[in-house]
Amino acid sequence: MQAKRVLVGISGGIAAYKTLSLIRLFVKNGDEVKVVASRHALEFITPLSIETLSNNKLYADMFQTNIHRTTEHIALSQWADVCVLAPATANIIGKLANGIADDALSTTLLACNKPIFFAPAMNEQMLCHFSVQENIKKLKTNGLHIIEPNCGFLACQTEGQGRMAEPEIIFNSVQAHFCQDKQPKYRALVSAGGTQEPIDAVRFIGNRSSGKMGFALAESLAKRNVEVELVTAPTHLVANHPNIHRIDVNTAQEMLEACKKVSDNVDVIIMSAAVADYTPATVFDHKLKKNEQHLSIELKPTADILKTLSQQKKSKQLLVGFALETDNEMENAQQKLHQKQLDMIVLNSLNDKGAGFSTDTNKVTILDKNGDTKSIPLQSKQSIADEIVEFVFQKLTQK
Ligand code: CTP
Repeated sequence: MQAKRVLVGISGGIAAYKTLSLIRLFVKNGDEVKVVASRHALEFITPLSIETLSNNKLYADMFQTNIHRTTEHIALSQWADVCVLAPATANIIGKLANGIADDALSTTLLACNKPIFFAPAMNEQMLCHFSVQENIKKLKTNGLHIIEPNCGFLACQTEGQGRMAEPEIIFNSVQAHFCQDKQPKYRALVSAGGTQEPIDAVRFIGNRSSGKMGFALAESLAKRNVEVELVTAPTHLVANHPNIHRIDVNTAQEMLEACKKVSDNVDVIIMSAAVADYTPATVFDHKLKKNEQHLSIELKPTADILKTLSQQKKSKQLLVGFALETDNEMENAQQKLHQKQLDMIVLNSLNDKGAGFSTDTNKVTILDKNGDTKSIPLQSKQSIADEIVEFVFQKLTQK
């Protein structure tokens, strides 16, 4: 994607410290960044940090003498491809919604006729206040893009709604906006993680899957402007892209139901989850006591999610499975490809050093139903995911 000129607006909230990371993400991406900040913003972060990270002069005072034009606010808005206001306090949201221009930041925003993204950050009560809500609504109705705040620990020492979205989310939202019209809009279902099958009130049968591969795939697809339904078994991982809609499940049965719900409306299904093949026939609702010498747990088979989805598959859909093997890798993967009637299968061998569960790296071979194969050498799971998604896109566009 072509480098952009990003105008970052910073208003006076504690979340301003996170905006420094946001500036870094844009700069690392090759974008040029200029910053306009309110006087209050500079109570939280210093001009030196802003100028060092953005590699440009900060604009914070309408009457400062070291800027080359007196109409800097107009020049900045003409220069920018996009403006990102983060954090957006109740004050700056109110000013922007009501046409108030009384400092460098508010005059620049008012003069800006480029896409504006704003990331609210404030105390929950302030966010819920009818006047703030009305102002936010007004901005949205007039075409500004909100990056929703999330729930969490707030600076006022309480838990609640109003925490500014993480820098990665803000960055990815802006990226997604710029690749919107450049690629066809696809939808995908990705499953991730290892399911947990309950034995009793506290125990479950699980596996070592971390979910990293599935999350990396979801991220790669989302970066290519695909809307992703990410059905995930329990994991500590966080999805950081606005195109990813996360659906949390625990058991194989819950994963099956969640996948069935969304599978009709997607172009591609990638089952990277490690789904339990068996689940306890009886689940005890209390904690089992250790009063037996031996304990046998009767297991019954779970439904094969991939097989179920392949039976309902639409002709234009692409179905991708994973095969985790320890021996006869190629043969077993080929067998799964045919038995489950997949379009392609990604073979993971647990014999390869650095590949498989919980590692940050992987090494895979993709086999497709027409006999095409692609071997991807050991590298980070994110790079592997990018390569798998590239392969999937080639097939999708041929469909
Ligand atoms: N899979 C599934 N539902 C299951 C089990 C597996 O959808 N109940 C999917 C996995 O997500 C993966 C593919 O099937 O994409 C292959 O999973 P794998 O565990 O390698 O093989 P199994 O089919 O379970 O067969 P086996 O365990 O005997 O190797």
